[in-house]
Amino acid sequence: MAEKIVLAYSGGLDTSVAVHWLKQEGGYEVIALTVDVGMQRQREEVQSRALAAGATKLIWRDAQETFVRHFVFPALAAGALYQGQYPLATALSRPLIARELAEAARAEGATAIGHGCTGKGNDQVRLEVSVQALAPELRIVAPVRDWEMDREAEIAYAQEHSIPVPVTHESPYSVDENLWGRSIECGVLEDPWREPPEEVYEWTVAPSEAPDAPAYVEIGFERGLPVSLDGRETDPVSLVRRLNEIAGEQGVGRVDMVEDRLVGIKSREIYEAPAAVTLLAAHEALEALTLSKDQRRLKARIAQEYAELIYNGLWFTAHHQDLAAYVQSAQRQVTGTVRLKLHKGMATIVGRKSPKSLYDYSLATYDSADQFDRSAAPGFIHIWGLPVRVQAQAQKGEEPL
Ligand code: ARG
Repeated sequence: MAEKIVLAYSGGLDTSVAVHWLKQEGGYEVIALTVDVGMQRQREEVQSRALAAGATKLIWRDAQETFVRHFVFPALAAGALYQGQYPLATALSRPLIARELAEAARAEGATAIGHGCTGKGNDQVRLEVSVQALAPELRIVAPVRDWEMDREAEIAYAQEHSIPVPVTHESPYSVDENLWGRSIECGVLEDPWREPPEEVYEWTVAPSEAPDAPAYVEIGFERGLPVSLDGRETDPVSLVRRLNEIAGEQGVGRVDMVEDRLVGIKSREIYEAPAAVTLLAAHEALEALTLSKDQRRLKARIAQEYAELIYNGLWFTAHHQDLAAYVQSAQRQVTGTVRLKLHKGMATIVGRKSPKSLYDYSLATYDSADQFDRSAAPGFIHIWGLPVRVQAQAQKGEEPL
């Protein structure tokens, strides 16, 4: 009896050819697994493609809720933004897909898992490191990395073996999408000097084409997690979906960056992440109101560390558990509401409030309600400036600052 392999299956050309190749060249019985993290695909269509390519069956997992609750929202609470720009949509989905692969392999009695990543990207690292952490006994096979076929050769292979090729008008870009964002690479985007053609964008209108009237949204948070939209309690998946629409219509969420991949390459990446960009801005604004200066300073450093960890495929590690424990603790008071104005590509914070707010009007105001003790200011400055005066005196005449 043939050994079984569970293959992460998207329904595209690469993974369809991979089904056949694993069966033919590898001698495996192929079980295709599609993890739905919010991409726009039809289950029936994906299933019929998998079967036509030679899979014994397709397992379809609706993981949208798990993805948002257990991967996206913790990253949001952490403030994770890779290199200050990328909200990590693709990167966050990989450990979840790896976990589903490992679980399915065990349930099906498979000895291996397969994926369709190339040998140059981050995704192969994230998937394999995660599978190694969760199910070290499984063999990992990466046909697209191993075979030496370019696109043309793959299409020829598909035609030769009557695998239905999903190219009506196949995009010249490589696209990955889920609820947290859309990642676009390849084609003309590989020239970092060249402005991305408008056709690469699907979730956002061009900021210049966005409506003249702004849209306002109010996002409610509890302990750092979004719980309501415009005053209505909203489940995580609906909240993210809805915000992708509202903010996308206003042209919010486009990112064009040169990014440092884990494998050492610099690459030009385009992202669309309307909900992510809006929620990250809102969350940070609420932290500004509810965390102390010291908490905010350390939190900003943890956010960077957290983003690196996600990007680098280290989700299933003790280091992550430690960082997550800090983040959760730091979010105890991050409860309240943020109001944003979405307009011509910008998400601007225009209001924030919280029952835990540290903002004290009677301390901040310049009008008659002022309670701040100004008479203490000279004494404070005297002590604060002490080391500065001492040093200035003692080392006078040396290098000018
Ligand atoms: N550069 C991004 C990342 O590493 C996006 C990768 C997109 N993946 C893809 N298969 N098109 O997270």
